[in-house]
Amino acid sequence: MSKDSKNGGISRRKFLQGVGSGIIGTYVLTPTIASASEKLTKNAEKLKLTVPVSMTVNGKGVHLQIEPQTTLVEVLRNQLGLTGTKVTCNNGECGGCTVLMDNKAVYSCHILALDCAGKEITTIEGLMTGEKLHPIQEAFIEHDGLQCGFCTPGQIMAAQALLLNNPKPSRQEVLEGMSGNICRCAAYPSIIESVLAAAEKTSGSTTTMK
Ligand code: FES
Ligand code: FES
Repeated sequence: MSKDSKNGGISRRKFLQGVGSGIIGTYVLTPTIASASEKLTKNAEKLKLTVPVSMTVNGKGVHLQIEPQTTLVEVLRNQLGLTGTKVTCNNGECGGCTVLMDNKAVYSCHILALDCAGKEITTIEGLMTGEKLHPIQEAFIEHDGLQCGFCTPGQIMAAQALLLNNPKPSRQEVLEGMSGNICRCAAYPSIIESVLAAAEKTSGSTTTMK
């Protein structure tokens, strides 16, 4: 077979030569594309608008300058260093990032920080009183309400929202109240026991969030 054996009228050598000239063509264009992309990036940076937002986090007023698309969990973790709140799905599906907004459970990955202006946010870091664990945290430890622990801050915050609203829930109400929080370790029986035990501990002295 000759080196330039024909296939449909185009030799393999000619085909490779064609591809080669294409690569060369691309190479020649690259500096132009690079400078255009550099300009675009610079323009985008110039246009990066930030806006002020103020809220209360764990009892303290915070004033931030943020890009409008920033989510609450990004502010908590990246700007305030409150890394107790976890990001699991980052899509409003698992409850791993649950915090309280004005004492109601919200998915912090699915809410814009701008929408928290003037609100009271409570994270897992805000539950302890000094060095003392919150009764829900104690109950989770006593009743093995965790395995890997990744979903635990979100579970505890969901439990706190539930108990603030309903200090002595039935087992069924706990099941319903905690249904927005997924546990990949499937520690559900212990989580439910933990929440019921926490309700026992706290129902005498109604726990309120500041
Ligand atoms: S990480 Fe926010 S709902 Fe899953
Ligand atoms: S304890 Fe591991 S995901 Fe819930």
